[in-house]
Amino acid sequence: QELQGHVSVILLGATGDLARKYLWQGLFQLYLEEAGKGHSFRFHGTALTSTKQGQEVIAKVLESLSCPRDTAPGRCAELKAQFQQLSEYRRLKTPEDYLALSKDIEARVQHEGLQEAGRIFYFSVPPFAYADIARSINSSCRPGPGAWLRVVLEKPFGHDHRSAQQLATELGSFFQEEEMYRVDHYLGKQVVAQILPFRDQNRKALDGLWNRHHVERVEIIMKETVDAEGRTSFYEEYGVIGDVLQNHLTEILMLVAMELPLDISSSEAVLGHKLQAFRALRGLQRGSAVVGQYQAYRGQVRRELQKPDSFHSLTPTFAGILVHIDNLRWEGVPFILMSGKALDERVGYVRILFKDQVYCAQSEKRWVPAQSHCLPQQIIFYIGHGELGSPAVLVSRNLFRPSLPSASWKEVEGQPGLRLFGCPLSDYYAYSPVREQDAYSILISHIFHRRKDSFIAMENLLASWVFWTPLLDSLAHEVPRLYPGGAENGHLLDFEFSGSHLSFSQPPLEQLVPGPDS
Ligand code: BG6
Repeated sequence: QELQGHVSVILLGATGDLARKYLWQGLFQLYLEEAGKGHSFRFHGTALTSTKQGQEVIAKVLESLSCPRDTAPGRCAELKAQFQQLSEYRRLKTPEDYLALSKDIEARVQHEGLQEAGRIFYFSVPPFAYADIARSINSSCRPGPGAWLRVVLEKPFGHDHRSAQQLATELGSFFQEEEMYRVDHYLGKQVVAQILPFRDQNRKALDGLWNRHHVERVEIIMKETVDAEGRTSFYEEYGVIGDVLQNHLTEILMLVAMELPLDISSSEAVLGHKLQAFRALRGLQRGSAVVGQYQAYRGQVRRELQKPDSFHSLTPTFAGILVHIDNLRWEGVPFILMSGKALDERVGYVRILFKDQVYCAQSEKRWVPAQSHCLPQQIIFYIGHGELGSPAVLVSRNLFRPSLPSASWKEVEGQPGLRLFGCPLSDYYAYSPVREQDAYSILISHIFHRRKDSFIAMENLLASWVFWTPLLDSLAHEVPRLYPGGAENGHLLDFEFSGSHLSFSQPPLEQLVPGPDS
C-alpha cells in the first residue's frame, strides 16, 4: 500500500513508570495495527535522563514487549525488531533540543519522500513540567502547515477548581482545545467504554427501566488492595478524592446518568449531554461523605516526607460518597461512589440494582414481580479483578436478554458454583470481551484515530471540579476515620446510608484494634 504520511510519536517521560508499564506496549500495538495501513511511523522516547542511561532503559522495555496472542510463532521477534528500528531515545530539555527534534523529523520526512501527517506528544511527566514543555513544543516543535498536532495529557489536572482552571488557561495559551487529549484511563477500559453503547443498543429494553421508578440504587466501586507507599507526596496533595473519585468514578457516573444522545458517536452530543447531567448533580454536603485513612498511612507519610512524629496527615485514603441527581429521571435514586486503598480486595464495578417489581420488556404481562431466584435484579458492568477476574457485562436473566456487539463481545457460561453479588452466575446473561485489551493501548489507538469522545474535554473537567471542590474544602480539616487496612482487615470498613446521609457502620478503629498508627 502506498504511504500517505509520516507520523511522529514523541513520548515524554519515556523511561518513567507509566511509560515502561503501559505506554511503550500501547505504541507497539499502534504500530502493529496501523503500519500496514498507509502511514510511516517514528517513535521518539524522550526524558531528562542522559542519553546512555535512557537508551539502556528503553532497550530493556522494547525487549520485553509482547505480541498479540494470535501472532504466528517466530513472527514476534521480527515485529519487535521492526519496532525497535523505528524507536529511539533522546534527551529533550531545552527549546533548542525541541528545535533539533523538529529538524530531524523534517529531514526524515523528506528522506522518505512523504508528507508529514502529524505529531503526537504524549506527556507522561508530572504536571509541574507541563508549562515548559508546552511552551517549547509550541515555539519550536509544531509540525508544518497541513499536518496535525496532538498533545496527550495525563491527570492530575489540578487539585481543585481553581488550579484546574489555571492549568487549563495556561495550556490553552499554547494549544487549541482540539489538539489536547486529556487521558482518564478508565475511559479506555473495555467495560467502561461499553456503557454508552450498551445503553444505545438496548434502548428499547432500557427505555422503561433506566429511571427512578425502577432503579433502587447505583453503586460505582473501585476497591484497591495496594496502599500509597512510595507515592505519599502525590497522595498528600490529592487524596483518594482527587486521585480517583473526581476523575475515574465521576466519568463512570456520567456515563450511567446522562441522557442518551441520539447519536452516541458524536463527541459533541455526548459532551453536551454529560454537561447537562453535571448541572443536575445535587451539591455535596458534609453528610454525603464518609472518609477514612488506613492505619499505616501516617507512618508512611512521616517516613517518606520526613515529617516529625507529631505530624498527623488528614488525607483520606478511603471515601464513600452519596450522590443525588436532581432531574426527572433520577430524583431520589442514590448513587454511591466508593474507593479506597489498602482494602480487602481489588475490584471495580458499576452495579445498577432494580426494585423488586420491574417493568419486563420481554414479557406479555408488562409488570411482573421479580422471578429470579435471587434478588435484586441487576445490571453489572464489571470492570475487572475481584471474584470474576476479568471484565464482563452481566444482566439478570429475568430483566431482559441484552444485545452486545458480537464482533467484540462473547456470551460466557457461568462457572458452576460461582456467585456474584449474591446470585449464581447462571442467573445472569454474561458477556466478556472477545479480546481483552489494556486501556492504554485502546486510548493510544483512539488518539491516532481522533476519537475525542474517549478523552476529557475542558468543560467536562471543570464541571467535575465544580462538583467536588466544595466537599474537598469542607473536608480539609476533618480527621478521617482510621481503618486497619490490608487484605486481612481491609473489610473492617463499611458504611450505610439513610436518606441523604452516609455513616460508617463499623466502630472506630480504636475500638477494633488498639495499637500505634504505623
Ligand atoms: C490511577 C490512580 O489513576 O488509577 C491510582 O492514580 C490507582 O492510585 C489506579 O491505583 C488504578 O488503576 P487500575 O487501572 O489499576 O484500576
